[in-house]
Amino acid sequence: MIKGKITRISGPIVRATGLGAAGLFDVVEVGKKKIIGEIIRLEAGRGKETEAVIQVYEDQTGMQAGDEAVSTGRPLSVLLGPGLIGTIYDGIQRPLETLFNQDGAFMASGSRGEALDARKLWHFVPSVVEPVETTGTKAKNEVVSTSSTTVKATPGLVLGTVKETESITCKIMVPPHTKGGNIIYIKEESDVTIDTVVAKTDRGEEFTLAQWWPVRVPRPVAERLAPDEPLVTGQRVIDVFFPLSKGGTAAIPGGFGTGKTMTQHAIAKWCDADVIIYIGCGERGNEMTEVLTEFPSLIDPRTGRSLMKRTILIANTSNMPVAAREVSIYTGVTLAEFYRDMGYHVAIMADSTSRWAEALRELSGRMEEMPAEEGFPAYLPTRLAEFYERAGRVQTQNNATGSVTIIGAVSPPGGDFSEPVTQHTKRFIRCFWELDRDLANARHYPAISWTDSYSEYAEEVRPWWDNVNVNWARTRQAALDLLKKEQRLSEIVRLIGPDALPDDQRLVLVTAEIIKNGFLQQNSFDEIDMYCIPSKQLHLLEIIMEFHEKAADCIKLGAPLIKIQELDDDEDDERGTIREQLSRLKSTYTNDDIAGLAAFEQRMLIVLENLAQSYIQKERL
Ligand SMILES: Nc1ncnc2c1ncn2[C@@H]1O[C@H](COP(=O)(O)OP(=O)(O)OP(=O)(O)O)[C@@H](O)[C@H]1O
Ligand SMILES: [Mg+2]
Repeated sequence: MIKGKITRISGPIVRATGLGAAGLFDVVEVGKKKIIGEIIRLEAGRGKETEAVIQVYEDQTGMQAGDEAVSTGRPLSVLLGPGLIGTIYDGIQRPLETLFNQDGAFMASGSRGEALDARKLWHFVPSVVEPVETTGTKAKNEVVSTSSTTVKATPGLVLGTVKETESITCKIMVPPHTKGGNIIYIKEESDVTIDTVVAKTDRGEEFTLAQWWPVRVPRPVAERLAPDEPLVTGQRVIDVFFPLSKGGTAAIPGGFGTGKTMTQHAIAKWCDADVIIYIGCGERGNEMTEVLTEFPSLIDPRTGRSLMKRTILIANTSNMPVAAREVSIYTGVTLAEFYRDMGYHVAIMADSTSRWAEALRELSGRMEEMPAEEGFPAYLPTRLAEFYERAGRVQTQNNATGSVTIIGAVSPPGGDFSEPVTQHTKRFIRCFWELDRDLANARHYPAISWTDSYSEYAEEVRPWWDNVNVNWARTRQAALDLLKKEQRLSEIVRLIGPDALPDDQRLVLVTAEIIKNGFLQQNSFDEIDMYCIPSKQLHLLEIIMEFHEKAADCIKLGAPLIKIQELDDDEDDERGTIREQLSRLKSTYTNDDIAGLAAFEQRMLIVLENLAQSYIQKERL
């Protein structure tokens, strides 16, 4: 144990002498309350002695110069094992509920709490499995060995499983840095705690249900795979227009109140990831409360189980120590990688990376570093890259396929996207969902701009979509082109008014309006429309584009636009005109009601065909 003495305190940055022999990024217990810190720099002090710069993760009221700082000799690590799912942690993996029961609503400094409940019993089922050495993308069936003595303890080897929640089976894996050797002991099927030894090797290594991992180090993988499977979010503007891959990276930049949090909540609720890690980083506390109160009661449409049974929350709200906010995203990614290594698809929401960057800036300032753009440290882009680089679809060390997808909200001050965090983030992500202030003001939600957003995954996920509906790429492109055309036409309309345009061009405006209202807008509070399955997503867009094509034909035959706008499939019912119905299809027909949607499509085609026929006949006469 290396002991040092505090010489200087500047907010969450503390300097101490006597820690020269400690390693960089070692965890240090600081002061009388033994609060947690991390050595982030070792530099020449004023005298000859090395001075350690320590970043402290808790409130340090009462800390004094001269207090002790003790290095623990290990880097800042998280405990990985069953029991993570459904828990709420702070940035350094302290379980907030345990601390609440211990300290009340405000955590005391130096409060610990076991990251995982050491008394809880888990039903361990042994399944020593040989990892397959080939590099095929498909995981081979897990082979249960009968004579466990011949099994080598290779990194990632699955020793057994425990049922963590209804939806998640936690695989007990040999840690990545194992000494190797043969497995000589495997625990029989039984109820065990996380500290129980469940396997031993002939090199004297023992494995329990849980393992430690340093948060700043990415967990190793066997191979990186192409991100060619989309993360289905159930949000049309995302899935159809700007798709994100499993293992991909996305940013949601948006000014104040434009819907960043709502979009992330919607994705966290409905996306088809197996595990969700929600990092509330520097945002308002009540937004986390919303997640806490809402998620347990929500049902996953795919598994029929509570959404909290697949979610881990990391809460570092605006009023919590700033240094812990800096580390919270690494904690989150590490937990994600752990589940990825079991072969799960994990999605991380970080709200917001701008607040995280502000934490970085504050700490850098306290360390008196030379500031770069807008006061952010020069290493801001490096840090952002390190974070987003940990996303990916991979072949794990035990030959399963898993992924970590990262979705970061960016809140540029004043909605100015030219500021450093947005600009640097843009370099490292491949999916950009830009929230538009005008759309948000017009209550067009999600306010994702269709002109300034982009996704570089569209080509990669195309084969997947082709399986759903071969028309995906064509319909998507036609709709995007139409919206572009509309933008040009609206500029003309602004100058000379809509009446100057010929009917075929005014039809573009009409259809664009239908796409916006009937396809792109998706209200998170609408029971039917809050989540839209892929086949329905595309069917809606196909119907709208079909309307456009047929209507354009009618206009060519001489039908005035006004006639098309007044078309009605049934004058007596209350459903309104075809045009009105098109805008409401999304919330009229549920995800299961494919027949209803198809029936509407037929009625629409018939009235359009009748109109076309009447003009063909007129021509003949
Ligand atoms: N998809 C949506 N459906 C319905 N309403 C929405 C949607 N997205 C946003 N809103 C509305 O916009 C409001 C603000 O959204 P939100 O809190 O997500 O913004 P934000 O960008 O996270 O704001 P801040 O910058 O304060 O964090 C919400 O309270 C809600 O009323
Ligand atoms: Mg928000």
